[in-house]
Parts: sequence; C-alpha cells; structure tokens
Amino acid sequence: MYSINRLLPIYKKYSLSVILIVFMGFISMAQVIPVETNENAVVLEVSKGKDLKMIYWGKRLANSSEYGQIPTQEKQATDYTGLYCSAYTPAGSRNLLEPAIAVSHADGNRSLDLKYIQHEIQHESDNISLLKITLKDKIYPFQVDLFYRSFYNQDVIEQWAVISHQEKKEVVLHKFASANLTLKASDYYLTQYHGDWAKEMQPEESKLTHGIKTIDTKLGTRANLFLPSVFMISLNEPASEDEGTVMYGALEWSGNFKIDMELDPQNNLRIIGGINNYASEYHLPAGEEFKTPSFLTVMSHNGKGEASRKLHQWARDYKLLDGNGNRLTLLNNWEATYFDFNEQKLFSLLKDTKKLGVDLFLLDDGWFGNEYPRNNDDAGLGDWQANKKKLPNGVSSLVKEASNNDVKFGIWIEPEMVNPESNLYHEHPDWVIKQPERDEYYFRNQLVLDLSNPKVQDFVFGVVDDLFVENPDLAYIKWDCNAVIYNAYTAHLKQQQSHLYIDYVEGLYAVLKRVRDKYPTVPMMLCSGGGGRVDYAALQYFTEFWPSDNTDPLERVFMQWEYSYFYPSISMSCHVTDWGKQALKYKVDVAMMGKLGFDIVINELPKEELEFCQEAVKNYNELKDVIWHGDLYRLVDPKLNDFASLMFVNNEKSEAVMFNYLVNNRYDIKSEMPVKLKGLNPEKRYHIKEVNLFPGTQSWLDSSKTYSGDFLMTIGYNPQVQTSRKSVVLAISEEK
Ligand code: DGJ
Repeated sequence: MYSINRLLPIYKKYSLSVILIVFMGFISMAQVIPVETNENAVVLEVSKGKDLKMIYWGKRLANSSEYGQIPTQEKQATDYTGLYCSAYTPAGSRNLLEPAIAVSHADGNRSLDLKYIQHEIQHESDNISLLKITLKDKIYPFQVDLFYRSFYNQDVIEQWAVISHQEKKEVVLHKFASANLTLKASDYYLTQYHGDWAKEMQPEESKLTHGIKTIDTKLGTRANLFLPSVFMISLNEPASEDEGTVMYGALEWSGNFKIDMELDPQNNLRIIGGINNYASEYHLPAGEEFKTPSFLTVMSHNGKGEASRKLHQWARDYKLLDGNGNRLTLLNNWEATYFDFNEQKLFSLLKDTKKLGVDLFLLDDGWFGNEYPRNNDDAGLGDWQANKKKLPNGVSSLVKEASNNDVKFGIWIEPEMVNPESNLYHEHPDWVIKQPERDEYYFRNQLVLDLSNPKVQDFVFGVVDDLFVENPDLAYIKWDCNAVIYNAYTAHLKQQQSHLYIDYVEGLYAVLKRVRDKYPTVPMMLCSGGGGRVDYAALQYFTEFWPSDNTDPLERVFMQWEYSYFYPSISMSCHVTDWGKQALKYKVDVAMMGKLGFDIVINELPKEELEFCQEAVKNYNELKDVIWHGDLYRLVDPKLNDFASLMFVNNEKSEAVMFNYLVNNRYDIKSEMPVKLKGLNPEKRYHIKEVNLFPGTQSWLDSSKTYSGDFLMTIGYNPQVQTSRKSVVLAISEEK
C-alpha cells in the first residue's frame, strides 16, 4: 500500500523533480491506493475482481496501512453489483445506479465494464501529486484514465478522466463524467445556489433523501444564470462556519454541467459531476482522446470557514490569473452614462478618474458600430469599430487622454455575440448559432457566435488583438457575455450537431489561451450579464469577475458573502453605484470587501461625498494588500443576524481589516455584544482604528487602546454598528 504524499520525502531525498512510479500487476501490494493531503485521504481500492472503488474520503489516518481495513468495519446493506462505490461507474453491464460513463461501441453494443490495469504517481512539486489510474474494458479496446491531482497543503483535489479507444470505428460517448465520488455519513446536507439576473447566489440548504438530486444547466454560454456548479455537502449534520465536516465541490467548466447526487441503497452519497450530457453525445474516433474538465473538491473538518480559506489559497496560488498579484481600482461609466456618451463626456470622466484617485477608467458598452450604431442593446454587436459620431478620433485618443490624465484605460467587449442588426450578422450568417429553418429567438436582442468554428475563433481573438495592436497602452478588458444559446445548431459541425455545446466551450478556451499567450498579464474581468459565468476554468484567464449587476449594497452584503465561500476577494469586482437607497458610505464600505470600483457620476457628488470617496480610495490602498491576499474569516452571518461582520488577516497576523454592515433597519437594532475576532495571534497586541469616516463625523471607538489577540478572539470587540452607524470599517494593526 502506497500513500502518494507520504512518498514526498523520498522523492525529495533523491532530488528528482518528477518521478514516475508504475505499479503494474502487483495487485496484492497495490490493493489500496490512498491519495493523502494534509488533513484528508481519498482511498481507492482495487477489488479481487479488479473493480476500482472509492472506499473512503475523510480525515487521514496516522498509519496509512490501516486504510485497507476500513471496509471490514462497514456493515452496510448488500452491494448487489459490487459497484455501488465504483470510482467511475460504467453503464450497460451489471451496474444499475447512475453511471459516470455510458457509451455505444463501434459495433453498437452499449455495455462497459472497466477493470483496473495500473496506476502511476507523479510528483509535480513539493505540494502537488498526480495519480493516474488506468481502467480498461475486458472485451472492447476501450480505456479510461482517471486522474487525481492533490494539493497537499490546501486539501484540494482536482479529478478528471481521459477516455480513449482503439475500436474499428468511432465510439459514441453518451455520458462522460469528470468525477465519481462516494461519501459516507449518517446524513448529507446540500448547500446549493440558484438565481437569475440581479439575483445571483441565493443559497438553499436541504437534507438529501434517497434517489437523485441534480444540479445542472443547459444554457450553453451564460451557463450559471440560474444555477452555478458550486455546492457544499455537510456530512452528518449541517456544518457551521467553524464546526463540522464539509466538502465543497465545483466543476471547472464554463458551459453545460450536470452534478448528480445519488443517495444509494447503502446510504452512501454518490456524486457524479461533469459536462452535461444533454444533447451532447460525443463521437470519439479511434486513437483520439476525450479529456473531461476538472472536478474540484476541498474538504474541511472545521467548518465552512476553513474550507473556503483553503480554497482561496489554492485559487490564488494555482488557478486564478495573477492570484497573488495586484489589481487596478477603477471608475466605470456604465451606470453613469449607459450608451449616451461622446468623446468630450469621456474626457471629463477621465479627469474624474484622476480626481477620485483610482487607477483606471473603464469604458463600457456603446463605443462601437457605425452602420448599426450601438446606441442601445439591439444593434451593433459584432461590429467592433469605434463609432465615428461618439468617438471621431477612435479609441486611441481616449487611451492617450487617459495617459495625459495619468490614469490607465480599459474597455468593454462582448466578442462572442452578435446583434442581427450588424454588418457581421449580414456578412457571416453561417457564423451564428441558430436553427436554419426556424424563427430566431433572442436573448437581449442578440445571438451567439459559433465558437466551434475556427474562423469564428480567429475573429473573436482578432477583436481583442486589434484593440491591443492599435492601443498598446490599453490596460484592462471587461469581457461580457449576455446571451444563452437558443436554437442550438452549428453550420460548421453539420454532421456532429451534438458536439456544439462542448466544442463551443473548448473554442472559447482556445481563444482565451491565444489572448493569454500574447497578453499574459493584462487584467481582464469575467462578466456575463452579471455573474452568469463564474468558474475556475474561466478564471485561469481572468483576474476578476463581476458577481452581479445588482449593486444595491444591502444585496451585495449577502451575495458577496455567498460568493466568498468559493472565490477569494481579489477576484470579486465590487462597484459603488446608484443602486440602493443607502448612504454612499455604506456603498463604499461594502464595495471595499472585494476589488473596489466606482460607477457613479463623480462630478455630481456633493463636496463631502467626493471627499469621502477620495479618502476611502486612499484607505483602500492602505488595506488592499490584506483584503486581496489575506485570509478571510466570516464572523457574523447576515442571514442569521441583524448585521454582517467579516475580517481579513495577513499571513504574519500583523494587519487585519474588519467590515461590519447593518442589514436590518428596525428600531434600535445594533451590535449589542462584542464580535469575536478570528485569525489573530493571541500573543500579539493590536490597535483598532475606525476608517472611512464620513467628513464631519467622529468615530465612537477609542483608538488609543490596544488589545491582545487573545482578548479580541475570546471576548471580542464591539464595532458599535447601529442605525446611525450602519457600516463600520476597522483597520487592525499590531502594536509596534
Ligand atoms: C451586462 C454587464 O453585467 C453590465 O455591467 C454592463 O457591462 C452591460 N452588460 C453592458 O451592456
């Protein structure tokens, strides 16, 4: 029995960067294959009949030789097929539960029975190991390689499958999951999210009952509009912020997904997640590989807070583009002008950008289209030439003027889409996803371009490339995606219509990869009519995402809270806008818990409000390092309380920032008791200073006192939030 990560010291001793160990035929030695991380182990077992099963996922044991004894202690109901815990459940043979894979072989036969052949372990770095397990069918030359990439310190595991065959003709893949997990507990509580435009990330928790619960999407592009793929499973009882065993899961894929959670006859929870097979049978020729996207998991035994800190660390270190880097604060013109602007107006907004003190001006929708000018959302998409009336001197004069004002310049695009009212639509009708014989049906007056077509990929890449070639100082892109796919039909793939949903997403990634190969560092915001497309596959190419068009700060307290379980604050764009009736201070304080931006008319702000914003930007510049790179601790849950509190703490535990927001307006509502802080060093002493005070107001808090971390975490600190102090931002720093 070999535990992957316990071999790390041996690898290091022989100072080999990559070592491959192949276990072949030694079934007696390799019956149990544990994938261990710092806290956990996923244990796979090869049965006598060479079926591969997942026999355990939980806290790792001190002695890895004991994993093999786990099944001897389980007295569950009969496993009639021996496949209830299959690590990749095949369809069409003796399995009768939800399959991970279902195929039609070249001869039309639909049976599959996958047997263990061998496994290899690759040591990718001090922190990362990759386990590859090869399974083959006995009758057909059909193979599945399962991959488990484990990130030791973060307790994160990414799983995917590579499917291939050597049959005489193509094989049709009807289902092709990324992961097939088995969890064992007395009860399972699912936290999932639903929503719509401006209502993203609404949580729901439910106890799973027998049968299958599915979360999925069939929307194609703006895939998360109604449901994202992120979820949590609490084992035995609902996990709280600091207690309980909880697993987070998500599919790293920006298109249709399907995650089935089947409570099986043995009371095990089988989770089968991957690309949605809806209308997506894949025809795989012999000798080619079908690689599924990664299914991401993290498990904690100390509640949701620890799980998200692990996930954030993993995201910053390994996934999110420039996850440990910096970001640009900005002024966006979308809500300030909508489509109604011209060069002069933008010149004055560039001055406002400088006046406000943020780094960049972001020009939103409406700057392009001539024959079909983009003056509202029903024309122009696809014609990416600057509108001559609004911008007679093109984008380049704006970039130049930004530089004259000592700020950077960014621009909005939505290059995957087309309005029927555009030259692009008329010139390339075959580039558009639509049924040839049926009426067109629009989402926001637009259609989706067919990214399965390499010519369309070139076009979309060209939209970005041309902007940079013409404007080398362009410093930021907001990449939007407002429509779902209706009438799914591709003129390009004629014979293989069922490949469209998958090839679209692969085409999108191919474009994004080209963009990143040529422009590796320029910050890009992932936007999709709000948060319609947020996932860790896309975030490899983006530095941040737009959570929602709903920027009402009260709504954002809740929404950002939920996003924060899965995504680090450095990735979350939060703008101050006119949404919501709250005071400007509340809006700014809420936006500061993420990546700060503004989308208001600066030159109409009363003097004190402008002063307040300018001061807040300066404060943010002082605090942003902790907010972006520190650990997040959620302290008071707004769903259960009258206010929300959360804090970020840096690695050295020398700096922290605490945000507090009242979420209830009833009479005399306040933070009555101290809030227990978290993540500080009990031995250190800290100053607490209230920042972001509105001009003319005084802090209620005495900043001359210091407190030990022990006091702050055991007794707590009262931020004195109440109806006349609806939001309070506290900068906490170690006494020097
Ligand atoms: C939807 C985005 O979410 C908004 O922020 C804005 O960019 C509009 N599209 C522009 O059309």
